Amino acid sequence: MGSQQWSSKLGFILAAAGSAIGLGAIWKFPYMAGTNGGSIFLLFFILFTVLIAGPILIAEFTIGRKGKGDAVSTFKKIAPSTAWPVIGIIGTLVAVIILSFYSVVGGWILSYLVRSMTGELSGLSQAEYGALFESIIANPAEVLIAQLIFMVMTIAVVQGGIQNGIERASKYMMPALLILFIILAVRSLSLEGAMEGVRYLFIPDWSYFSGETMLLALGQAFFALSVGVSVMITYASYLNENENLGQSALSVAALNILISILAGLVIFPAVFALGFEPNEGAGLVFVVLPAVFNELAFGGIFLFVFLVLLLFATLTSAFSLLEIVVATLTKGREEKRKPYSWMIGAVIFLIGIPSALSFGVLNDVIIGGRSIFDFADYLTSNIGLPLGALLISLFIGFKMKKEDVFQELEKGASSTGWMNVWYFAIKFLAPFAILIIFLESFNLL
Ligand code: PHE
Repeated sequence: MGSQQWSSKLGFILAAAGSAIGLGAIWKFPYMAGTNGGSIFLLFFILFTVLIAGPILIAEFTIGRKGKGDAVSTFKKIAPSTAWPVIGIIGTLVAVIILSFYSVVGGWILSYLVRSMTGELSGLSQAEYGALFESIIANPAEVLIAQLIFMVMTIAVVQGGIQNGIERASKYMMPALLILFIILAVRSLSLEGAMEGVRYLFIPDWSYFSGETMLLALGQAFFALSVGVSVMITYASYLNENENLGQSALSVAALNILISILAGLVIFPAVFALGFEPNEGAGLVFVVLPAVFNELAFGGIFLFVFLVLLLFATLTSAFSLLEIVVATLTKGREEKRKPYSWMIGAVIFLIGIPSALSFGVLNDVIIGGRSIFDFADYLTSNIGLPLGALLISLFIGFKMKKEDVFQELEKGASSTGWMNVWYFAIKFLAPFAILIIFLESFNLL
């Protein structure tokens, strides 16, 4: 484990929430919901967070604190001479791919941030907001430079060690983001015609129900909670013995659902009131948000503040993705942290280049019916994460001894009654549900 350790009780929660809350809730949730029937997507996203992803978060915390190592050595320690450490290897690879396209979107935020300072984002029409976004993401020089700057920011923090960087900043930025989001939702909801967006988000339209939609909602639940990648295992390994794991997981999952719903309440009422399309795709938030800020007094300043906070939320997730790879490869040799962070970060940047260019010069390249960017997302969110989560649930349920698991969970816990329910969810419900959804969505059932 090296010398890494969270310095305070709050530090761990903030870092775990910081990893979870990011583009998943704020950018990806609205756009996935918007392309997959709105309310149905929200319904299954919540259901899967509560029944599957949440229990897996508790499982990752438990494994991490018990094994006290990086994603791979944790499994080696708990299950020596077995194949289980492959979970950590898959997780590390998945983290590399996620960060490779995550940093592209991080770059878009930087592009918007610069434009928010020059006033270029105020007072445009719907069509102009769409055109602006298209022109930014299609410009190879701009997207690559922005992605590079985002990666450098990520590396700069991770190479200095988690506790200095992540804990201190999270304390203020996260609550600020929440408050601004609430103000925005109120403004969006008071626009004329906003109720249609509310209906879109909350009244289920079952015609969108399908195996594929369920898999996408499951993938979203994992992605948004950062589970299935062993990120939360790595973070929990820096944890002391008196933290209440169940309580921490509950707070992170609840906050994550809350921010996703708030994001939906900012975006969809405005989509319908201002005449946008909900199925805009990856650009949805970037096109609709500036238009909502336009409707706000001092909107230009608020937009700038919002983008700073969004950048911050995105960075805290990116830190966790880079941290797991650095932790796995340095194996606790803290003196290697600096050079490894820069090297690994550089490689991830290179891997991300095709994703960055897939909205412009490489937009003709299609893999399995998707653009390079969408393919990287689909491969990780809908295959890598569910697979990782499945293996983690089997590890807890069938490899670890129940007494050991419970003993770890009881440390710092204020009640124990829920543990049997959780154990059932993780041992039977989660693997079964993941398997069924997998098979169903690939038409194997
Ligand atoms: N949960 C992060 C977000 O929603 C993304 C992420 C996924 C981070 C997996 C780490 C691991 O933005």
